[in-house]
Amino acid sequence: MAAQGQLGYPGQPENPIRWSFDSGLPDPTTFPVDDLARLAESALRRDQSGALQYGAGADHELLYGYAGLRDALADRAGRLFGSQVDRREIMLTAGGVHAISLALQAFLDPGDVIAMEAPTWNMVVGRVAQLDMQAVPIAMDHDGLRLDVLEQQLEASRARGKPIKLLYTIATFNSPTGTSLAVSRRRRLVELAREWHFVILEDDVYGDLRYHGDRLPDLFGMDESGLVLKIGSFSKVIAPGLRLGWLMGRADALDAIASVRGDLGVSQWTARIIAQFMTEGLLEPHIARVNDLYRRKRDVAATMLETHCAPWVTFKKPDGGFNHWVELADGIDATMVREMALRRGVDCRAGGRFFGERGAGGRFVRIAFSQVPMEEIERGLAVFGEAIAACAGASPMADRSA
Ligand SMILES: Cc1ncc(COP(=O)(O)O)c(C=O)c1O
Repeated sequence: MAAQGQLGYPGQPENPIRWSFDSGLPDPTTFPVDDLARLAESALRRDQSGALQYGAGADHELLYGYAGLRDALADRAGRLFGSQVDRREIMLTAGGVHAISLALQAFLDPGDVIAMEAPTWNMVVGRVAQLDMQAVPIAMDHDGLRLDVLEQQLEASRARGKPIKLLYTIATFNSPTGTSLAVSRRRRLVELAREWHFVILEDDVYGDLRYHGDRLPDLFGMDESGLVLKIGSFSKVIAPGLRLGWLMGRADALDAIASVRGDLGVSQWTARIIAQFMTEGLLEPHIARVNDLYRRKRDVAATMLETHCAPWVTFKKPDGGFNHWVELADGIDATMVREMALRRGVDCRAGGRFFGERGAGGRFVRIAFSQVPMEEIERGLAVFGEAIAACAGASPMADRSA
């Protein structure tokens, strides 16, 4: 914050941001505006009172949302993951973030212990602190969450009389790292949940954004004990303004969530628009198109990081998701890099925000390549390279050979 104080708030006229690699926003040129406009009108004409009234009826449509979309999602889960799911096992939410909040409220009380990857999505780190829950960060390696560390923490938490009740995981394309949990670890993680009796909250909002390799089996599909709840969202693949996501889980788990819902469901109209988008077969080709764009952006960003920052950074090109997770050489501090970058009109996110532990993450920055226009990525990361060079020059500790 001190950096922003000196500079003016990023994006203000005295400190314009020209290249925002900060937030993982989808590229607005991918929004399927014509189809959404057409389907908005047709949903309204076809089902006026259904689209504009509160949800009603025997299918739990008030709290669980429009049954037609839940059916389409259940069908897709069957096609992609082989899961046998029905509409009672899907609840629509106002995006993935709402699904996370609801699950935390339903299964945890203040003071309860939640395990999460370190690093993980900063919004969850903040929300857990806000709700006065105790976060236990679990280290990761190139195969995702380290289960040996998780097991140690399960033991230690139980010994303290405060067992881990829930694990939040972005098992596929973790944000910020882009890492995915290895299949063998997925199996073992589901077993651990059963042995230690904790809930797994599987955040899969990036799962469809794959640019390389085959889709991995989900934790939800491996689980037979009803302890896994899976989160999905249309935000990254279609548009976040829809505010449309969902929770998939056993009916009794969703009932527990419904009991803490203090709202009257999500837009019935929007749900009908997206259901139609899916039943017309538009979703899969749309995802293929956006993935093609993001794959190219990922590659250009990787080349630029190598070209302009190579002596001072290391990173592994992710197979999917929106981010490059960049490790800085010894002696170069992420907050300082961000400050130098902001002065030059480039925003990025300093790594500390993704860790639940004080002081962690100071050697990392997240570069979200998704929303920066393709033709701007090159220049933006060249300028970012100048910022790192300035930091490296300013740091007597900087090891250029790292
Ligand atoms: C890991 C992760 N989960 C969930 C979300 C939630 O997005 P939304 O609420 O728009 O679905 C985000 C958004 O950035 C995210 O990065």
